[in-house]
Amino acid sequence: MTEVLHVDPTDPHPAAIARAAVCLRRGGLVAFPTETVYGLGVHALDRAAVLKLFAAKGRPANDPLIVHVAAIDDIASLVTEMPQSARDLAARFWPGPLTLVLRRSSAVPTEVTAGLDTVAIRIPSHPVARALIHAAHIPVAAPSANLFSRPSPTTADHVLADLKDRIDILLDAGPAPVGVESTVLDLSVAPPTVLRPGAVSIEMLRQVVPDVGLRTTSAPAAAMPSPGLLSKHYAPRAPLTLYEGERVPALRLLLRDAETLIDHGNTVVVLAFTEDIEALRDLSVRVVELGRERNPAEVAARLYAALRECDEIGGDRILARTLTSNHALSTAVQDRLRRAAGRVIQGGP
Ligand code: TXA
Ligand code: MG
Repeated sequence: MTEVLHVDPTDPHPAAIARAAVCLRRGGLVAFPTETVYGLGVHALDRAAVLKLFAAKGRPANDPLIVHVAAIDDIASLVTEMPQSARDLAARFWPGPLTLVLRRSSAVPTEVTAGLDTVAIRIPSHPVARALIHAAHIPVAAPSANLFSRPSPTTADHVLADLKDRIDILLDAGPAPVGVESTVLDLSVAPPTVLRPGAVSIEMLRQVVPDVGLRTTSAPAAAMPSPGLLSKHYAPRAPLTLYEGERVPALRLLLRDAETLIDHGNTVVVLAFTEDIEALRDLSVRVVELGRERNPAEVAARLYAALRECDEIGGDRILARTLTSNHALSTAVQDRLRRAAGRVIQGGP
């Protein structure tokens, strides 16, 4: 049985937090909101609990977890060294949606890091996450609280849809505000490399550490620093075709393909920006609204719920246009849409 505890997102009741914290300390599985997505937390130094977590998610053991801590002083025992760049980034972006990959100490079980000699660490900013980790007084390993290969959960309902009765407690504090997972920055390599884009953009990171680079997506799978970064991670059930490039040519191609697919008897779902909905009016497609393209933060917050809606509709094909704007979250949204897509079509420059 999963116990659901409703808590205020800014001022969670101490009794609910204490109950969840005790559960974590005893090796239980607790789903909780962070500012990015809901996480599935477990005592990071308890091997048996970590193995239970992998089983509950159906997650392959070669995909390492992020360790969440409450304060910078809690990191010392988990790493062999804390480089100056890490201190500077922590001062600027923590608590917040940034994960740093550092050299791990022997205190971190190899199950957490999937055998790597590094460990991913972050201090989340969501008041419920902070209160929980503080009360538990342990490092909390937490992947996103979804079944493996499902979109990350941004609401408590998403967590229940995937993990009901596979976890002990769910802290429900309403939707996760950012909507896409944290930026992952590898500080164990030179130059430091962004492994996963998130709300802390590369431009923001470079203001603190100027030589930060971006992992090239064309790298072969074997050269990837961690298997969890492989693309198929976020795929919805029906094949998704993504149209990139400028709005007008990309939308024209999308409309043309939608018509052809409908003519061939397919049920077509279009993941559409609010600005594009008018253009779809005369087509018999199912529309799932992504939010306004001119507001990428709104799109990020809606994205995973929208991908789940596509699965619920159960169409044959999903068509979507990607964001063209340049905003801290645009790269993260473009990245997640690409990972969800089976096919990417260039609509124009
Ligand atoms: O926003 C987030 O980061 C959320 C919330 C719950 O904090 N967590 C999250 O966890 O997205 P997960 O497990 O779904 O994604 C962790 C990512 C994976 O891509 C994994 O491969 C990478 O971090 N990662 C973890 N440890 C790593 C390491 N030592 N080296 C390289 N990548 C690592
Ligand atoms: Mg995940």
